[in-house]
Amino acid sequence: MVLILTDNSEPYIRLPAPHSHIILTPPRLVEAREEKDNVEKSPPESDINTAVSALNDKRVYLKLESTPYPYMREHAIAFARQGHADTQRILQQQQQQGEWFDGCPFRDIRDTSSPSSSFLDAGDADIEHQEIAQATKIGDLLLHHYPFYELPVDSPERKTAQEKNAALPAGHEDLIWGIGFWLLPTYHGKGIMSAVLKAVIEDWAIPKMNMRVLKSSAYVGNEASVGVFRKCGFMHEATIEKGSAVLSESRGGGKRDIHVLRWERKADGHQDNTILMCRRRHTKIIQNKHSTRK
Ligand SMILES: CC(C)(COP(=O)(O)OP(=O)(O)OC[C@H]1O[C@@H](n2cnc3c(N)ncnc32)[C@H](O)[C@@H]1OP(=O)(O)O)[C@@H](O)C(=O)NCCC(=O)NCCS
Repeated sequence: MVLILTDNSEPYIRLPAPHSHIILTPPRLVEAREEKDNVEKSPPESDINTAVSALNDKRVYLKLESTPYPYMREHAIAFARQGHADTQRILQQQQQQGEWFDGCPFRDIRDTSSPSSSFLDAGDADIEHQEIAQATKIGDLLLHHYPFYELPVDSPERKTAQEKNAALPAGHEDLIWGIGFWLLPTYHGKGIMSAVLKAVIEDWAIPKMNMRVLKSSAYVGNEASVGVFRKCGFMHEATIEKGSAVLSESRGGGKRDIHVLRWERKADGHQDNTILMCRRRHTKIIQNKHSTRK
């Protein structure tokens, strides 16, 4: 369920047990402690450290295509600022235009059982909200317009498909969404990302975005990523040899084989049992005019 932190209006999703210490929030920006004037807000120091540590770790960056390598503090700061601006737009646009959200504001995965030293100011909020405000970032997820990995890179077909998809209005049944994610290696193999993806689909993308199709790709051999998609009800759509994934020189260059995976909402709005395992824990606060579920 989506909850709002009263003091700073930050929405968040808390995962169901046994992962209830994990929450999803929009990217956070804080004011620098000194030099408050004329200084653009930056992510909390511990968020920067998490991203720099994970995205320079072979267990993470070698599975990803688009993150810069080596990954510098400046990359983390720019990514968080862009993410913050995007999520503000998503939240404000829905308030102005109503009905469906044009994206997902939940991009940071955080652990409330591991408080960070640099955190959001929660003011006089209660203990739960203090815990939320101090939760340490442990990973990222990004729901975005699908890039059509199955079409050749830089081809006119791919460009046209992307443009047509981007031109569709929020909530349109034909919109195809894509998703990418990573976790700090110390959190791998605990079932966290499967629970995160289920929560994003069930608690946000279906009821708030009217999402019907979600696709992604994973390098052939990335069993953990394919495992996450499988557990969340994705089907294997295609394997593309020496296809869309073109590696930068800093990642060794060349092309990789990829799997394309596809999730589709069931016609009656109900999901299969694996997705229904994502139970509700809290009362809904953000309301939609429409819901696909009964
Ligand atoms: C991909 C990633 C996010 C998976 O997160 P995770 O929380 O470790 O995944 P889960 O624990 O939910 O695993 C889901 C399933 O994948 C499989 N799996 C997980 N890790 C695996 C591994 N190392 N080898 C083989 N299978 C694995 C298991 O079947 C697991 O199901 P189970 O719990 O029922 O056994 C994480 O490994 C990561 O950050 N990797 C680097 C970045 C990346 O690959 N991103 C995706 C790019 S497409």
